[in-house]
Amino acid sequence: MSRSLLSIEELGVDGVQRVLELADTMAEVNRRPNPKVPALRGRTVCNVFFEDSTRTRLSFETAAKRLSADTMTFAVSQSSLNKGESFRDSIETIAAMGVDAFVIRHASAGAPWLVEDWTTASVVNAGDGWHAHPTQALLDVYTVRVALNRTAGFDGLRVAVVGDIKHSRVARSTTTAFKALGADVIWVAPTTLLPPVVGETATDRLDDVIGDGVDVLYMLRMQNERMTEALVPNLREYTARFGLTPRRAACLAPSTIVMHPGPVNRGVEIAIDLGELPGSVVKQQVTNGISVRMAVLYDLLSANPNSTSDIEINDDVAAAPKEHP
Ligand code: CP
Repeated sequence: MSRSLLSIEELGVDGVQRVLELADTMAEVNRRPNPKVPALRGRTVCNVFFEDSTRTRLSFETAAKRLSADTMTFAVSQSSLNKGESFRDSIETIAAMGVDAFVIRHASAGAPWLVEDWTTASVVNAGDGWHAHPTQALLDVYTVRVALNRTAGFDGLRVAVVGDIKHSRVARSTTTAFKALGADVIWVAPTTLLPPVVGETATDRLDDVIGDGVDVLYMLRMQNERMTEALVPNLREYTARFGLTPRRAACLAPSTIVMHPGPVNRGVEIAIDLGELPGSVVKQQVTNGISVRMAVLYDLLSANPNSTSDIEINDDVAAAPKEHP
């Protein structure tokens, strides 16, 4: 297995399954009155976020602390990058302080692979440009696994991913993860918000997709900050054709679950109070993000032969299904 988690493709189906099963164990830890175990005592995890984040950054920090790892946060805006230090020199400087894992978000696709080349630490891709967001994908499939009691896999599961697919690293990673577990995925978007090469079944008719019945309706955020041109006539028209409106919500089957990676553009892709949607699992996605990121850190740091410290493994955590060399 790899020392890093850079993409769902590199993790592979077996890796996805391993993380999901480990996340069950971490979820049990998180239900305890004192949700903390000594599994990664002596390890150091450094968050390096070159793009804004609420969920991913805080849940990685929480996950590391619940596993008793030490945490460092590289504050980009207060760093020596502003004095001209290069990205590479910054990473190598932090690595020299003794870091076992970098959790990195960067606006440039491929940046986490560079960091992996520059250090012997584990690297977790927390989102690179439009490219990939593997831990979001893992928490998404974990949420479906729990919500629909699908521990055996997603064969026959119908998933619609709706919205700004062109700019969405979430759409790419989550589609790959759903399909790896056996789901059928359809992309729903205006042609201007699809990537130039569409490898998936795609349509611009959301009402037809809802009418045909879906098990998972995955709404994406309109990524206005990544758009350099007007790709939809206006947001009102976008909502009318591709938004989850009260009318469309009323057409959903009671068993359909609604997902969104956050942050939500209220009134744009979701034009209904999520609290009024019995099928919404958006809050569960956030909660499950901690268990899944604990699983990822544990999976990487309890196995990285380049780390120097011994790991004290709590009995409960050690009981999780693992296959490490
Ligand atoms: N879903 C997601 O990546 O959210 P943040 O940008 O808040 O981390």
